Amino acid sequence: MNVRPLPDLDPDEIDRLLAQGSTLPASFYTDPRIAALEDELIFRRSWQIVGVEPEVRSAGDYFTSHISGTDFAVPVVVARGEDGILRAFVNVCRHRAHFVAVDCGSKKFLQCTYHGWTYELDGSLKSVPRSGEGGLPPFDELGLYELPVGTWRGYIFVTLREAEPLEAAVSGLGEVLDSQGFDFPFAAEHADPEFDYVRHVQPTGGPSNWKAMNENNIECYHCPTTHRHSFSDMYKVDPAHYLHREFDRGVYHTSDFQDRVAQSLGLTGDSRSPGYQFYYLWPNMYLQGGVALGFSNAVERLWPDGVDGWKGEVVSYSVPEAREYPPDVVKQVDEWWRLTVEEDMEAAGRVQAGLRSGLYSWGYTLPDSERNMRHFYRLVWDALSPAFRQRLAAQ
Ligand code: FES
Ligand SMILES: [Fe+2]
Repeated sequence: MNVRPLPDLDPDEIDRLLAQGSTLPASFYTDPRIAALEDELIFRRSWQIVGVEPEVRSAGDYFTSHISGTDFAVPVVVARGEDGILRAFVNVCRHRAHFVAVDCGSKKFLQCTYHGWTYELDGSLKSVPRSGEGGLPPFDELGLYELPVGTWRGYIFVTLREAEPLEAAVSGLGEVLDSQGFDFPFAAEHADPEFDYVRHVQPTGGPSNWKAMNENNIECYHCPTTHRHSFSDMYKVDPAHYLHREFDRGVYHTSDFQDRVAQSLGLTGDSRSPGYQFYYLWPNMYLQGGVALGFSNAVERLWPDGVDGWKGEVVSYSVPEAREYPPDVVKQVDEWWRLTVEEDMEAAGRVQAGLRSGLYSWGYTLPDSERNMRHFYRLVWDALSPAFRQRLAAQ
């Protein structure tokens, strides 16, 4: 394992802390050496959702994305070839490193807009303006770098380094989603060529370590206080109604609309379904679904942005029928959501300041209300601990 210097932390001590229900040590959120380790052991080797299959239905369809950590960002392009095969490439031209594709669309070839080097949809180099001048290696040595790509229930995943099969990375998620009646509009069995959607991309970001933001995202112990007049007005957040559970590689939480909100949306009796469905998949992905207004499904990812920040992207896929709700209720729900997101980011930013104080080593969590957090700590530590154990063994 090739990792940079590690902070002086005792892995046995961290095991003890986590076993007794403590948080991860504060230094995990502030130390650049931990961030470097996360790049190496988490972000460079995990499968990540970059899009959905309807975005690349036909030969020539492509979209761009990226996989990032604290100290790296790899642009990615996913394209369907003339042979019908879906491929992913590092979106960096072999000439002088410009992107070969931007945004999304459909093309016969991937032509770099800088000097016009042109690649086939299978990544091989097709043509180079003025190549008659010579001086270049053979074209078959100048193809785009290909990346592992896989699909699962209509979601497209890419990884920089295939440390495990995609099936292992989504272990348990299918059962959880099925148990909650999650709708998979992009799954092959729903692959209706008429299926249409509106794709909306919203960039996000905030002033906390990515883990502090994720921890806020996966628990609702904070909802009655932090979201007193937003999320808690919309959804039932008491322990009797709020379901939160862990599974192999993630956690989820779901809840119902408050009764008066459900009534105003016409969601009563048998037609009632969870108002809120939020699924976290290790390390940095979320699926949202159910009766959420304005979209039918969304995929969100977040990445480190320095040690003290994160940036993210919410891609929502709206089905037109999802908008048949009374406009005044939709407006109110939108406002509740806007406030909720604002409150979450502010809370996570204040947490980051507290973690930075130097006077907080670790904290304590509740066994049920914060069980999702405990599971997340375990996933982080399972990924990072081999490096610490290896050092211990070498001493
Ligand atoms: S960088 Fe792509 S053609 Fe020059
Ligand atoms: Fe929140």
